[in-house]
Amino acid sequence: MRSGLGLTRYSVSDEIGVGCTTLVSMAVMVSFDLTDGRHFAAGFPHDLFTELRRDSPVYWQEFPADFPGDHDPGFWVLSSHASVQAANRNVELFSSFEGPSLSLLPAMNGTMLVSMDGRDHIRQRRLISAGFTPRMVARLEEQARGWAVAIVERARERGTCDFVQEVAYQLPMHMIADIMGIPAADREWLFGLTSELLQGPEMSTDNRSEAFASMQIQMFDYAQELGRRKRAEPQDDIWTVLSTVEIETDDGERTALGEAELDMFFFLLTIAGSETTRNAVAGGLIALLDHPEQLARLRSDPEVMPTAVDEILRWSSPVAYFARRATGATEIEGVPIAQGDRVTLWYPSANRDETVFDDPFRFDIARTPNRHIAFGGGGPHFCLGANLARREITILFEELLARSTELEILAPPTYSGLTIDNPVLAAVSSLSVRIA
Ligand code: HEM
Repeated sequence: MRSGLGLTRYSVSDEIGVGCTTLVSMAVMVSFDLTDGRHFAAGFPHDLFTELRRDSPVYWQEFPADFPGDHDPGFWVLSSHASVQAANRNVELFSSFEGPSLSLLPAMNGTMLVSMDGRDHIRQRRLISAGFTPRMVARLEEQARGWAVAIVERARERGTCDFVQEVAYQLPMHMIADIMGIPAADREWLFGLTSELLQGPEMSTDNRSEAFASMQIQMFDYAQELGRRKRAEPQDDIWTVLSTVEIETDDGERTALGEAELDMFFFLLTIAGSETTRNAVAGGLIALLDHPEQLARLRSDPEVMPTAVDEILRWSSPVAYFARRATGATEIEGVPIAQGDRVTLWYPSANRDETVFDDPFRFDIARTPNRHIAFGGGGPHFCLGANLARREITILFEELLARSTELEILAPPTYSGLTIDNPVLAAVSSLSVRIA
């Protein structure tokens, strides 16, 4: 009954198997193959998710038999604001242990902050938070401003640029690198590797596991070498803190963080701190240029910037979904979920939920209230970098608008929504812009 790229609608009389459950109670059912990357080739498929929210807000998606990599047979798709928020907050019932992606990589279970539950998660979160020393946080604002000015000026001098690579990518990369203490000379290489890890074409082919492992090894080798340098010459950055910190084990011993633990911290911070904010900035510019009256308002009334940034976050919702696993049998919006089922939380869809947002497809930089959940639905995994990301977006748009009078998109943006395995789907990968 799958319909490829199309959308098939079913009437009440149809009986559709949904995993372990058969649903007959809904008035209208929809079906499409969400695992088909072509759905994301032109950005997030809001039209499909609007249908889902209306007709099948808790939707079972099966993986095609020939889908590469290790997966569950299928997964639940939560598309409404209420269900995403509720699953986000109920960490006892919806475990993060197997990570946010739909790929099953058992070796990575429970190894990163995003893939931890309970006490392990609390402990690791405290450790990273301790890495943000007050002195460093105080420095961030000034550093971000300095980077933003340099980045925008360089793009303006050139006249045209790939906004993603030359502007949107640059500020978050330099900021997270400053915070972690990654030397400037290593940044392009390292963050290029990060992007490849998330979006490289080999990820959609059969050798994806080996390609993934080889890229990870390069990154981990680098993280270990950087740790050695920080221990020899400590600095005021997170990597010095994490490489030298002593933690208390359950039996009261004090010990340094293990190599594997440090590797995973490094992996998480480089990815979480750069890819997402880049996508918000690129998506924000597209939205502003698609809505010239909103851009004009932002130029003439800088006071509106705080609500504009939240609207940019709602509109762009850079994280497409995070996956969880149900630890017990439950029900979501009347649909039974079996223990062990994989469940995905779709943030961009929740952020267009018409029951929460007035006219959700209107881009309104003064929108109030704006209960978007681009940073997660308020559970214990809520984005650790939310404040940092907000400041980066604010400062970049402040400098961009102050230093330009004309902004124009020269060609349609391209998107890198290659595979359902990547929770940062539908990221803008290039955007040709004229800046004067
Ligand atoms: C616009 C930019 C960003 C967006 C949209 C975003 C979004 C998210 C989302 C949706 C989650 C999962 C929340 C949940 O499961 O409840 C998350 C977690 C996380 N984010 Fe962000 N993020 C952004 C920027 C950043 C930055 C700049 C950092 C850098 C420090 C960061 C670090 C993290 C970390 C470490 C986690 C895992 C937290 C945990 O599992 O406890 N994020 N983010």
